[in-house]
Amino acid sequence: MNAPLSLQSKTVLVVGAAGHIGRIIVDAVLSAGGRAVALDTDAAGLQALTDVHGADALSCAMLDMANRASVDRALADAHDRFGAVDGAVNTAYPRNPRYGRQFFDVEYADFCENTGLHIGGYFLFMQACARYALERQQTFSLVNLSSIYGSMAPRFEVYTDTAMTMPVEYAAIKAGLEHMTRYVNAYMKGRGVAFRANCVSPGGILAGQDERFLASYGKHCLSKGMLDAQDVTGAIVFLLSDAARHIVGQNLIVDDGFSI
Ligand SMILES: NC(=O)c1ccc[n+]([C@@H]2O[C@H](COP(=O)([O-])OP(=O)(O)OC[C@H]3O[C@@H](n4cnc5c(N)ncnc54)[C@H](O)[C@@H]3O)[C@@H](O)[C@H]2O)c1
Repeated sequence: MNAPLSLQSKTVLVVGAAGHIGRIIVDAVLSAGGRAVALDTDAAGLQALTDVHGADALSCAMLDMANRASVDRALADAHDRFGAVDGAVNTAYPRNPRYGRQFFDVEYADFCENTGLHIGGYFLFMQACARYALERQQTFSLVNLSSIYGSMAPRFEVYTDTAMTMPVEYAAIKAGLEHMTRYVNAYMKGRGVAFRANCVSPGGILAGQDERFLASYGKHCLSKGMLDAQDVTGAIVFLLSDAARHIVGQNLIVDDGFSI
């Protein structure tokens, strides 16, 4: 019989929990019966989560995923409070104020800073989770938020007549993240602990974008076009659950067919 698609009695860290998608992931973890540890650099956003969900199954703490002491402390504190950490979702989205420029306008220093903050932070958090699983002999499922743009070239035409673009850093970051996720799984094989990491790659998520952009994006999709954050949580809960316990190093694309 297959394992249930439930997070009952599991503790899951959510990095970037105060963000647009992160808040909804916290909801989804709690709704699936799990305990959530919401982590972010945004204190007000964390307080808002506590206001909504209370503090029984939810714990909130400041975390900078680009700081090793901060990451180690978050894992240790969650372990002390809940007895074990069974998984994590990294949905952080660090970027500097100049992120999002057109290709020819991107300065070398900004390229390095934005890729470093993002892929560097995901590296550090993934390393800490793998180390935690190994040291505690703890079965662990990590889900990294990638994007369709980690595996497909941008459709620049959907941004025509808007101020939007698909930043070059993002292509490097998300392609790198998907392959780094495979790397870590390969590295952890044979070490006697069931540590697995996978990616979920959403298509575009609705957040008040330009109507022209939404219409031209939607032409490439099956039925909805741009998605709500709730539309990607099924894939995330599945990968965290025991139903996915033999799924290792994969990338699950949730994009209403945009990339097909
Ligand atoms: N929004 C989309 O359309 C979309 C589509 C595909 C993939 N994604 C991916 O989903 C993830 C979340 O996107 P979002 O739209 O919710 O972003 P968001 O900006 O709304 O939220 C990101 C959160 O990360 C936090 N954060 C930034 N740096 C951090 C750090 N160093 N340590 C801890 N937390 C930090 C921010 O405070 C914020 O709360 C990102 O990885 C993004 O690339 C987003």
